[in-house]
Formats: sequence, C-alpha cells, structure tokens
Amino acid sequence: MAAIRAKGASAAASPAVAAGESAPVATVKPVAAAAGPRPSVQDMLKAVREGKAGAMAAAPAPAVASGKAPVVAPPMPSKPVVASRKVEQPRRGFLMAAIVVACAPFSSAFNLAWTSITAVTGIATLGTARFMFPNVLVEPPSKFKVGPASDYPLNSVSNKWKDQYGVWIVHTDQYEGRNLIVALASVCTHLGCTPSWLDGEQKFKCPCHGSGFYMTGVNFEGPAPRPLERVGLRVAEGMLEVDKSVKFQEEMGQWVDAASFIELA
Ligand code: FES
Repeated sequence: MAAIRAKGASAAASPAVAAGESAPVATVKPVAAAAGPRPSVQDMLKAVREGKAGAMAAAPAPAVASGKAPVVAPPMPSKPVVASRKVEQPRRGFLMAAIVVACAPFSSAFNLAWTSITAVTGIATLGTARFMFPNVLVEPPSKFKVGPASDYPLNSVSNKWKDQYGVWIVHTDQYEGRNLIVALASVCTHLGCTPSWLDGEQKFKCPCHGSGFYMTGVNFEGPAPRPLERVGLRVAEGMLEVDKSVKFQEEMGQWVDAASFIELA
C-alpha cells in the first residue's frame, strides 16, 4: 500500500515539481466513486468462516487504490459460557420443587394438623406391629449331654463346656476321698464373676477380687464366702447329662444329694 501511495503521489506531483511550482493540495475523492463494488458484511463473515481471510484482504484493491483503509472483518466473538448455566438451571428448579413439596404440609394450619395426625397414626401403627413380634431370648437348654464319663480322666477339670453352658466337668477324688464326677457352675460365689481354672496351680482363680477355689469347688482364699455351686448331673443312655435347672450348695448340705454327682468305683 505504501508503494502504491508513493507512486500515485509522485505521478500527481511530478508536473508541478517539474515546473518549479509548489505542490498542489491533494483532494480526496469520494470513496464510492473511486472504489469498485464493496463486499457486504455477510460476504466478509462468510469468507472468514471459510478460512479465506487472505483472499478477502487482497480483494479490496480498489479501496486501497482510492486511499481508503480496507475493511477488516471483525473477529468472531468467542462463544459465551452459557452451557454451564443451562446445566445448573434444572438442578435449581428441582431443588426449589423439592423445597416446595417438603414445606407443603406446613403451608397452613389445616395441612399442619393433618400432617401431625398422619404422623401420630403412623407411629402408633408401627408400635402395634412391633408389639406383634416380641423379643425372643435364645438361651442354651438347661439339660445337655457332655459325653461319657470315660472322657474325663481322674483329677482333671474340663473347660470344654464353660463358654457354651457355663459349667466345668470335674473328675476328682479329693472331696471326702470319693471318686466323683461333678458339674460346677462357673460363677464366683462372691459377686458373680467368672473364675478361670489354672492347671499349673490346680485351682480356680477369680479375676475380680482374687478368690480361689480348689478343684473340688471349695473356697480357700479371697472374699468368696462359700464354695462354687454344683448343678445336676446324671447318666442317661450311657452319657453324662447336665441339668442346670437345679443347683446344689455345699454350705447347705446339698452336696450329699445323689443328683449332684456321679460316683465311680
Ligand atoms: S467376684 Fe469373684 S472374687 Fe469377687
């Protein structure tokens, strides 16, 4: 463009310069008369979209020749961030609808009253249904078989049934010199803790306050005031059968009851 302008200026000024006259004031012709057919804005936008910006830049040669700056198509505006708003709008709408539905029962005193009545009726119905299914406490049976007497060697304590039924099976000849098998309840006679059988020390020891009991169940140390209790024991169909529904206390003279032991020859 600079070259074209320089060429035109020199051509216009050369006669006057040559004659030694001052250069005439340049006059600007109307663009419409000098320029060729001007491209419309739609054409320019179409050219920009089709990647022909270079061709369009070269096209306004007539305007350049006339001294008018070429029309440059404005850049396409970037796409506004509208998509995210469109996504959020449904969520807001859903939230508002949920709030309206949730608050509907409290919108008036009438609705509030009916909501309260419905809630109370529902709670009462649930309570009635719960009453129809009472708690069931599953306890181990009071009578159970613990195997033959031969499973319990002399002067031994079996922990096999302690966790499940809360009894020890003891075979001992240390009580009055008689060869007996007894079932002792695993409940301390002080405050009801569960003692442990210490095989190395040959005694029951309560972890709560230190009471100690011989293998026979007789207390000998600590605060326990009386021996461990025996439970019922008999032989049924060749098996020892324990009956926890009956108890025998030594201090009450009940250990002489034949139902509290099995005596072996
Ligand atoms: S409960 Fe066993 S010693 Fe106290």
